[in-house]
Amino acid sequence: MGSWKIKKMSGHCGARLEGVSLLNASKSDLEEMRSALFEYGVIVLPDQHLTPENHLSVAEFFGPINVNRFFTPVASHPMIAEVRTSAGQSAVLGGTWHTDHSYDAAPAMCSILSARQLPPYGGDTHFASMAAAYEALSPGLKKILTSLRAWHSDSSFSESNVGLESNLDAFRDPVLHPVIIKHPVTNKPCVYVNGDFTTHFENWSREESSALLSYLYIFVTQPIFTARVVWEPGMVAIWDNRLVQHYATADYAGNTRLMHRITVEGVPLESA
Ligand code: SIN
Repeated sequence: MGSWKIKKMSGHCGARLEGVSLLNASKSDLEEMRSALFEYGVIVLPDQHLTPENHLSVAEFFGPINVNRFFTPVASHPMIAEVRTSAGQSAVLGGTWHTDHSYDAAPAMCSILSARQLPPYGGDTHFASMAAAYEALSPGLKKILTSLRAWHSDSSFSESNVGLESNLDAFRDPVLHPVIIKHPVTNKPCVYVNGDFTTHFENWSREESSALLSYLYIFVTQPIFTARVVWEPGMVAIWDNRLVQHYATADYAGNTRLMHRITVEGVPLESA
């Protein structure tokens, strides 16, 4: 038995892990944490209060760091991305369901978000299980989707109005991923299209793709597949980008929210 107390957050995704400080976690605590991540899709660890150095060490347990090329880096620790909404910002960051880095050929395996400054209310993050969503599809649609691949692009960053860096050198060519991926660790089939970065199906026009993609975005984010993380000071959340999508609630206009995020390298994705 491990030393974490693990409490499920909802029927299909999310678990709260308490009772261990990441600063002195044993190898078996860390391994148990990683297994929980692959089982629940998102894990929240309250009361961790990580320094940037601690945050980097936790990330390195999972694998090499994949530095986000669009977010502003933390000045003193350029491997960490700032996810910042300032009080005076006109648009609040978030409000769309997505998977981090799906525009890369080997998308980030996990993201590790550490709360630095929270608004007095709101700013919760929602997660949805793409394995549960796949299971709930009809056999007919599962079969069609499993035969498809879709294009993913970072081009939506050029239209962003939430203060993300417009670094023209950061943009890359679109990449193809299977629409239903086999999770690289558990082999579970997961839906892998998202509203921020998927543009269209391979060999379909954007117009043809849009009706089925719109249906899928609504289907996969139904409340039954989701868990909601209500942030607490010092909390850390880690999510598996192959197993869940996430959505940051933009309901705290006029307040500051600052999170530090590290993304960890993933692998090319295979069809289920
Ligand atoms: C993200 O989209 O990666 C950040 C989520 C959040 O700020 O809650």
